[in-house]
Amino acid sequence: MEDTTLLWLLFLTSLLSCPTNQASLTVSPSSSQLFKGQSVSLSCEDDDSSAGWTLRRNTTRDTGTRCGDGWGSPSGSSCEIGYMVQWDGGVYWCESREGATSNSITITVTGGPVILQSPVLPVMEGEDLTLTCKTERSSNLPAGFYKDDSFIRTESAGHMTIHHVSRSDEGLYKCNISSVGESPSSWVSVTGEEVTFDFRSSFIQIFT
Ligand SMILES: *[C@@H]1O[C@H](CO)[C@@H](O)[C@H](O)[C@H]1NC(C)=O
Ligand SMILES: *[C@@H]1O[C@H](CO)[C@@H](O)[C@H](O)[C@H]1NC(C)=O
Repeated sequence: MEDTTLLWLLFLTSLLSCPTNQASLTVSPSSSQLFKGQSVSLSCEDDDSSAGWTLRRNTTRDTGTRCGDGWGSPSGSSCEIGYMVQWDGGVYWCESREGATSNSITITVTGGPVILQSPVLPVMEGEDLTLTCKTERSSNLPAGFYKDDSFIRTESAGHMTIHHVSRSDEGLYKCNISSVGESPSSWVSVTGEEVTFDFRSSFIQIFT
């Protein structure tokens, strides 16, 4: 067999094995905003645990540092942070030994009295989006909701649902509770239908 043929075969094999090497990051509690002092568990979920996923983060103090390296306690493919403080706020993602990355999640930690509970993962077009404005003790107080700094409406029980979201609902949301305070802002993304990229057909298209 010619050397170049062997190289092409290796290249093809690596392309074919790519799509299985995917992880998704989930967070519990599932909220993009947390109160200072809350604990959180982040998990890299994958079919192929041998890929050796590690959790990394970017904050104002860390750039790509891994769980256990000055923050968090690794436990299997999860990472626990027992007591969140403001500088734990940032972007978290999973990375394999080979450098493949998962989706990323942005977490905001506040020392203030109000948080907006919004989805950590993008909302699919057509689904309902529910936002909750809460204090540490209560999640059903009257609250005002804002998008991109414009007032939307007041909800008497702290929950606002937007039915059948579309791309135009994507934006920066926050809320306030009268005589308590205002939450930080969080970005809510809306995505279209999931498109999976097929390496095999693209290979055939490119190389035939
Ligand atoms: C983390 O920070 C580095 C350096 O600024 C940047 O290149 C990288 O894209 C960031 N990662 C994420 C997931 O935001
Ligand atoms: C939210 O804040 C605005 C401006 O401070 C205030 O007028 C409004 O009453 C507040 N709304 C609620 C529900 O607390």
